[in-house]
Amino acid sequence: MLKRVSITLRVSLLFALTSVFVLAGVGAFLYRSLEGQFAQRNTAELVGKVELVRYILAGVRSRQDVPLRRQHFAHVVVGHPSLYLAVLDEGGEVLFASSRLRLPEALLRAAVDASAAPTFTEVWQPSPDQRYRALAAWAGLASETNQRVLIALALDTTEQQALLATYRHHLVVALLSAGALAALVGFFVARQGMRPLKRMAATAYRISADYLSERLDVEHVPAELKQLATAFNAMLTRLEDAFGRLAGFSSDLAHELRTPINNLVGQTQVALTRTRPADEYRRVLESNLEELDRLSRMIADMLFLARADHAQVTLRTEVVDLRAELGKVAEFYEAHAQERSVRVVCAGEGRVTADRLLVQRAVSNLLSNAIRHTPEGGEVELLTARDDDGAVMVRVSNGGHGIPREHLGRVFDRFYRIDSARGSVHEGAGLGLAIVRSIMALHGGRVSVESVPDGITTFTLHFPAVLSGGGHGSDKAAQHTPPREAFHRKALTA
Ligand SMILES: Nc1ncnc2c1ncn2[C@@H]1O[C@H](COP(=O)(O)OP(=O)(O)OP(=O)(O)O)[C@@H](O)[C@H]1O
Ligand SMILES: [Mg+2]
Repeated sequence: MLKRVSITLRVSLLFALTSVFVLAGVGAFLYRSLEGQFAQRNTAELVGKVELVRYILAGVRSRQDVPLRRQHFAHVVVGHPSLYLAVLDEGGEVLFASSRLRLPEALLRAAVDASAAPTFTEVWQPSPDQRYRALAAWAGLASETNQRVLIALALDTTEQQALLATYRHHLVVALLSAGALAALVGFFVARQGMRPLKRMAATAYRISADYLSERLDVEHVPAELKQLATAFNAMLTRLEDAFGRLAGFSSDLAHELRTPINNLVGQTQVALTRTRPADEYRRVLESNLEELDRLSRMIADMLFLARADHAQVTLRTEVVDLRAELGKVAEFYEAHAQERSVRVVCAGEGRVTADRLLVQRAVSNLLSNAIRHTPEGGEVELLTARDDDGAVMVRVSNGGHGIPREHLGRVFDRFYRIDSARGSVHEGAGLGLAIVRSIMALHGGRVSVESVPDGITTFTLHFPAVLSGGGHGSDKAAQHTPPREAFHRKALTA
């Protein structure tokens, strides 16, 4: 429930509550100190009067003479309409009283000893709206008589109580008003404070797929929101990047498909312009088949990449003897290499826990590139090695022109080719290295490349030291075997 209350409201309520608490604390403190001051002053006054009356009594010889000093006693209370004074003898008989008031017995019994100075007074409340501060004390008469009388004093504090009640009342009113005012001020302050957030929300609303370049203004945002704005902008950058790549990929795909399909349409149209001998049709069909084969391979590669992207490729991991698998791949390419007078040599050994067919596929993609780029009579080296922390690497190196530095970062991108014009029938689609990268990512490893201009180009597969078994995705996806993969399997696992 509280979670749904707006922050503005919460802040203003908290603000109001805090103000009320602080003001109540201050008010209570001031009230207590005022009350204490009243009590102190009343006590001091009563104590002073006791001393005065004791002084008068010290000059009286016997209790019978006490009433004779009526005049003196009257002076004690004169000008003090709220002060009551009575002098009683030891039997409780009133010798002098300034009014009819009678202090309760209990109070009189607690009277202070004649030799002691009174230090405290008592509150006496005969009825709810009457309140007195009272004091009883014994007093000795002139020394030789050895008699004592009781002084009873009471100060009517009802008026002070009324004053304190008014103060309390004002305090409550002030508190309530301050609370309401604080809530109101808090509301406006909080709303002002929330403005940057609202601005952020407005910007976020404007952002759509076609408007991903919009960014939140990080400079003019309060410190607390800076982190959020920065994270949001970073997310937008990633989204824009992914969207850009997706858009680029779609347009690349359209281009890649357009040329071979145009070729197919063109050739077929030309063939159909007139009747031709059977072997001419055959040649056209063969050429079309070659093109269709290439298209089908490209589509299979793209399917594999798409499935790998969505982690739908199930890894059938096992312990793979790299020496043996590299040998198989090299053997498969032997005829092709011989055709170009290129030698393929294998060296080193190592084992990894990986999907055997995918390892073959990665090495085969690297080797086919290497053979293609090695000058005639050159050599391609397949090397397996283990680095210090137990990770296994496979290196495929070849000589040749090498890969120019500016292309090194991009050769693993889909459809990225360096040396060919798009659509040439004999060239690859530029997906081979993208597949290698995906395969290594599926294995938790990576692929890297180094190239010296007109020197050695080396692609390295880095397998992690320990590979977790199994894989992700469903078996169903893996059963969908694309033709090129099937071709690899048949050829390489035999
Ligand atoms: N060993 C190498 N030496 C020099 N250049 C290379 C080497 N391997 C790859 N390249 C360059 O990197 C580009 C991308 O390679 P990739 O394998 O992805 O595509 P492809 O071989 O052109 O097509 P595909 O592999 O899909 O048939 C190639 O066009 C090539 O120019
Ligand atoms: Mg290739």
